[in-house]
Amino acid sequence: MGGTPRGECSVTPVTSTPADSHLDRTRDKTPYASRELGRCRLIDLPVINDPRGNLTSIEGNRQLPFGIARVYYTYDIPSGAARGGHAHRQCEVLVISMSGSFDVRVHDGLTSAQVTLDSSKRGLYLPAMVWRELDRFSSGAVCMVLASDIYRESDYIRDFDSFMEEYAH
Ligand code: TYD
Repeated sequence: MGGTPRGECSVTPVTSTPADSHLDRTRDKTPYASRELGRCRLIDLPVINDPRGNLTSIEGNRQLPFGIARVYYTYDIPSGAARGGHAHRQCEVLVISMSGSFDVRVHDGLTSAQVTLDSSKRGLYLPAMVWRELDRFSSGAVCMVLASDIYRESDYIRDFDSFMEEYAH
């Protein structure tokens, strides 16, 4: 993932998926341009360089296209574990690797793509109605998510078939 201009979709089409991934079950039917995936993008975050160590600050509706209502993070992730496995009906997020690395696989109902996150200077913006699966966490990886809404289970679609069904309507 090189330096991608902000605002340009920068996740790459999936060429292979783990055997147990929902994304296995659908094959890319279209060229890269698609519905919500076209709105997924990597956002380069501002870095204040300092001999004492770098500082990054994120402000909702400034570096992000949404206001921040919630922050959560996953850590102590066992080797081989996968997280995510859902889409949001409304909630938008920015996913950042605060330490280590992991893969994010996304699907918008038509097209799948994947990106490796390995820097706290860059986040992956996911709009609503994008299925996401996170896996291949490195040892010590910390995944931080900035979300546009508080936690509401009713906003989640946790079944891939239901996601595809909901998108079709
Ligand atoms: P889950 O959505 O499976 O996490 P991930 O997408 O990172 O794999 O959530 C795991 C549990 O935590 C589930 O019972 C819901 C709960 N939870 C909250 O209570 N608040 C939150 O902000 C989040 C993200 C999850």
